[in-house]
Amino acid sequence: MNRSEFEKTVYENKFRVLLSQADIQDRIGELGKAISEDYRDKQPIFIGVLNGGFIFMADLIRRVEIDLEIDFIRISSYGDQKKSSGKIRLEKDINAEIKDRHVIIVEDIIDTGLSIQFLRERFQSYGPASLAVVTLLYKKEKVRNEINIDYVGFTIPDHFVVGYGLDHKQILRNLPAVYVLE
Ligand code: IMP
Ligand code: MG
Repeated sequence: MNRSEFEKTVYENKFRVLLSQADIQDRIGELGKAISEDYRDKQPIFIGVLNGGFIFMADLIRRVEIDLEIDFIRISSYGDQKKSSGKIRLEKDINAEIKDRHVIIVEDIIDTGLSIQFLRERFQSYGPASLAVVTLLYKKEKVRNEINIDYVGFTIPDHFVVGYGLDHKQILRNLPAVYVLE
């Protein structure tokens, strides 16, 4: 589906807004405040997970009121399909040295939980001072092994969503809100 087909589908009510721009920004403000308090007197490094997490990362760090650093990692778990291939491929690694650092992984969405398990194990092996996860969206019912996520924006039902960084076949990331296919 390309953008004009998407607009037609929205018009025909097949897509609906799950989270509006205002919902998202309000919640990010709360997350930023919580992180600022929890990491007071520390200088955490936020690691954004590309591609989907870049918009959330950009908005989140601007709501955090302490000194921080950033880096990015890119992994892929989804081909062009709507469901996980079950395999994680590392496509771009971080550059930062994270030993003894306070690390916060920034994810767009946790679906099966495979990606975040992969990232946690990888970063843990470098010996960080602490390792936390913040995700904008969490499909909680989908995650097989109960995993502990430190900061969750919204728990959502198991539907495929697009917009605000999240793609379908690499497009629709630039939609300002999060939409779900009915
Ligand atoms: P997991 O490894 O199954 O938790 O998958 C996480 C990754 O799959 C996310 O970082 C997204 O890039 C992608 N993903 C999962 N669910 C969706 C969705 O509903 N829409 C778009 N991308 C998704
Ligand atoms: Mg992702």
